[in-house]
Amino acid sequence: MAKQRNKFNVDEELDSPFNISHLKRSFAYINRYKGWLILALFLSICATVIGLLAPMLTQYVVDNIIDNELLSSNEKLTKSIIYCIGYAILVVIMLLFNRSRGIITNRVGQNIISEIRHDLFEHLQQLPFEYYDSRPQGKILVRVVNYVNSVADFLSNGIINIILETFSLLAILTFMLIQSAKLTLIVLAGLPFFMVYVFAIRKAQRRGWQKLSNRQSNLNAYLAESIDGMKVTQSFARERMNYDIYNTLSDAHSKQWMRCVGILHSMFPVSHLFGTFSTVMLYFLGAFVFQDVTVGVLLGMAGYCWRFWQPINTLGRLWNNLQNAVAYLERIFQVIDEPIAIDDLPDAEPLPAIKGQVEFKNVVFEYEENTPILKNMSFIAKPGESIAFVGPTGSGKTTTVNLISRFYDLKSGEVLIDGHDIYHATIASLRSQMGIMLQETFIFSGTIMDNIKYGRLDATDEEAMTAAKAVSADRFIEQFPKGYYTEVDERGASLSAGQRQLISFARTLLADPKILILDEATSAIDTKTEILVQKGLAALLAGRTSFIIAHRLSTIKSCDRIMYLENGEIIESGNHDELIEKKGAYYRLYTSQLSNE
Ligand SMILES: Nc1ncnc2c1ncn2[C@@H]1O[C@H](COP(=O)(O)OP(=O)(O)OP(=O)(O)O)[C@@H](O)[C@H]1O
Ligand SMILES: [Mg+2]
Repeated sequence: MAKQRNKFNVDEELDSPFNISHLKRSFAYINRYKGWLILALFLSICATVIGLLAPMLTQYVVDNIIDNELLSSNEKLTKSIIYCIGYAILVVIMLLFNRSRGIITNRVGQNIISEIRHDLFEHLQQLPFEYYDSRPQGKILVRVVNYVNSVADFLSNGIINIILETFSLLAILTFMLIQSAKLTLIVLAGLPFFMVYVFAIRKAQRRGWQKLSNRQSNLNAYLAESIDGMKVTQSFARERMNYDIYNTLSDAHSKQWMRCVGILHSMFPVSHLFGTFSTVMLYFLGAFVFQDVTVGVLLGMAGYCWRFWQPINTLGRLWNNLQNAVAYLERIFQVIDEPIAIDDLPDAEPLPAIKGQVEFKNVVFEYEENTPILKNMSFIAKPGESIAFVGPTGSGKTTTVNLISRFYDLKSGEVLIDGHDIYHATIASLRSQMGIMLQETFIFSGTIMDNIKYGRLDATDEEAMTAAKAVSADRFIEQFPKGYYTEVDERGASLSAGQRQLISFARTLLADPKILILDEATSAIDTKTEILVQKGLAALLAGRTSFIIAHRLSTIKSCDRIMYLENGEIIESGNHDELIEKKGAYYRLYTSQLSNE
């Protein structure tokens, strides 16, 4: 077994007692289909009633036709046949009803699935970076995909079944009482004992299903991460070890599944036992003790006795499903309830078309409570100015530029754009005027053209091509047989890292933002391409306020201003020549890079 413990083994916190409020909340999804579900229930009830008539018919045919001495045997035969045909017709109707109910509930179930997914996805898109920073994506995926499936079946079918089975139970009870109250009591005698049993295993069931959803979540998280990191895994030849970790998680899942199913299935033999015992008692007491019971009544009652234990069994299983569904609902609502930490304020105003002045005023920022990353940062970038951030790794460069787009909120201070505090502006109006390019350029599945147009869907193909040309991306794109209409996949695997970056340059240029942020966006471009890109970059930067982070200082030499960051503070600021002259931190960095080249 792998020695390594990892966060995939860590279970998520859950409610401890059974929380009915999750179920109540899920009724919001069912409510829209109330009419359909009531129809399904009605069909099922009719089908059940028809099913329940059988023992009564048996009793009637035996006592009033077959045992009737006033009838000739021919009459007995004809009457019996008529009853049989009548019953056969009812059975066909019953099957049709059941089938229609199946169609309705499946459709409602699918609609519920898509509505919950819709809500989840919508919410996930609004959740801040922080949310994604702190949890494996597999755990998010499993909620949207698997849990929703399991829950929807319960919400559409399960709830109807609970009502239906309860109804059957009451109906059977009524039919039994009509036939013989005495014998009914015998059938009921085992019930309290069975209830005690069901309550005894209740807690184990709930914990069991909760644990199972944890195991499933862990397994998925590990799987998602493994697929994501497959290249690293293979290049470090770590397959064996990962295989072991996966196996451990997978075993934990299977074992937990077996445990849950074990608890569930322990219920069937127990109820079977009670059912059998009641039937034996019924025959015994009916035949030998009570003198007034006819053969027909005894046969009919025996039929009902079996049927009586069926819904009880089903209810037990449904109770179990309910526990399971609530465990999943809990996770689903956890996501939906996750606060949108970065949201428009109630009085947020859209930012007007901006010129591009950016001001940081005494900005203090921390990811975690009491560990300030930026400590009182202030600067002003004038419209059209290009600003470079340099400094050692972890000094806060990425953090600084992330604050301009309000990916995180400040601890104190202000970020102003054209004098408007971005905290009071709508997020959409802010980000739509900003172009952000990161080191990991993301290529979406589609054509190169789709990718260039990603930020401005209304652009024409010609405009997209002009943008590509301006950043020198046209050369390699045109070398593909299908040129701009070459299909690329989501990882952009068919493109080199440099090509991906050039495409994202074109994408940004086309979107024509007033403020541009490049975080290590040029790092994957080789020196030869870089000369090309320098020109493209100049085109990209013209007329925009830009913030550039680059380890390769040749990229930023020509910037209007360079700020040197250390431990979240600007310790030097000026253009390249000024900073060289100053012979400070920037100078040392620059000369060390020169000597390394
Ligand atoms: N999501 C996060 N949660 C908690 N701490 C973070 C998070 N992101 C960054 N940090 C911490 O904030 C500090 C600044 O990180 P930042 O990413 O801004 O550095 P950087 O200057 O961009 O470094 P690099 O040159 O390596 O990209 C680091 O100490 C880092 O550990
Ligand atoms: Mg960084």
